[in-house]
Amino acid sequence: VSEHRGSASPGPDFSPIAWRDGGLALLDQTRLPAEEVWLDCRRPEDVAAAIQRLSVRGAPAIGVAAAYGLALALGSGGDREAAGVAAEADSSESVRRRFEAAADLLAATRPTAVNLRWAIEQGRRVFADHAAGGREAARRALLEWADRLHREDVAANRRLGAYGAELFADGDRVLTHCNAGALATAGYGTALGVIQASWGVGKVAMVWVDETRPLLQGARLTAWELSRLGIPHKLVTDSSAGALLSRGLVDRVVVGADRVAANGDTANKIGTYPLAVLARRHGVPFYVAAPLSTFDAATPSGAEIPIEERDALEVTDVAGSRLTPAETEALNLAFDVTPAELVTAFITDAGVLEPPYGESIARALGAAEPG
Ligand code: MRU
Repeated sequence: VSEHRGSASPGPDFSPIAWRDGGLALLDQTRLPAEEVWLDCRRPEDVAAAIQRLSVRGAPAIGVAAAYGLALALGSGGDREAAGVAAEADSSESVRRRFEAAADLLAATRPTAVNLRWAIEQGRRVFADHAAGGREAARRALLEWADRLHREDVAANRRLGAYGAELFADGDRVLTHCNAGALATAGYGTALGVIQASWGVGKVAMVWVDETRPLLQGARLTAWELSRLGIPHKLVTDSSAGALLSRGLVDRVVVGADRVAANGDTANKIGTYPLAVLARRHGVPFYVAAPLSTFDAATPSGAEIPIEERDALEVTDVAGSRLTPAETEALNLAFDVTPAELVTAFITDAGVLEPPYGESIARALGAAEPG
């Protein structure tokens, strides 16, 4: 894909995902904070590759990026040649085949974040409703829907940020893991949305940022966002949490989620579960901040959440050079599951959910159902 340099600065209207000139621009998160480079995706394959290599990452962000990827399957708009679509390719059967191939490709990129599957299922319904009108009508409908998902995700994050700020207290020192900021969403962020909203009303004194091995989303991305937002923070190694908590240096832990099962068990970046255990041990609240699109009524408990295993090279090598003896193997689990009983509350766009989670989650999802 082609790329262009362009500034990117987390602020009120920042999004790492933008529809521009008939294509999808994605801020390449693998290169932050050193370089601010946007990838110009023109085909669903470009979007799938960007999701797989974590150029775009974070559960809500990959859902929204995949939505635009589905629209790209039907061409980029404008004239047919520019869209790379031959006249005979407009038959309803070939349009359907192209759409289905893109949906399958995008769905197969990452297994854990349910937002991806949720977006693709919705996209399938939008396509089914508009396919009879021909390729261009279906493409426009998909694009309008993707834009709507984009706007709704930002609005949901702002709402959950405000709910979260009500739980926080003056002078809070907050610990977070991985990156659940504007970069991980269509904008504003979930866990960092809560931190940003709390900071805005003077409630956050500082943020402890877990570096988040092996891909350093905390060190590279959360630190970048907090710096740009002017929120005081300090980076720590992932294994520091116990020491910080036992010294009384953490008042709250807040993290995002890739999937919340119907009973409240929560998959998030590897290293989240030990934080929840430590928070409980020290009597510190442990919050999960996530929009309802991250809750999965079809997955009964954490045991059924598929956990992505990534390339061992991400663990054995750093910046392209080998850390370990050549024969050493590594297991690279990208996520872990925190049992619901360790979660103090879920901060969602529909309000704060408290135990028993089976009931509060079902109620929130039921109320959000269209119609
Ligand atoms: O592998 P990543 O970087 O996509 O993992 C991201 C996380 O674990 C986030 O905490 C989660 O997706 C929530 S993002 C608002």
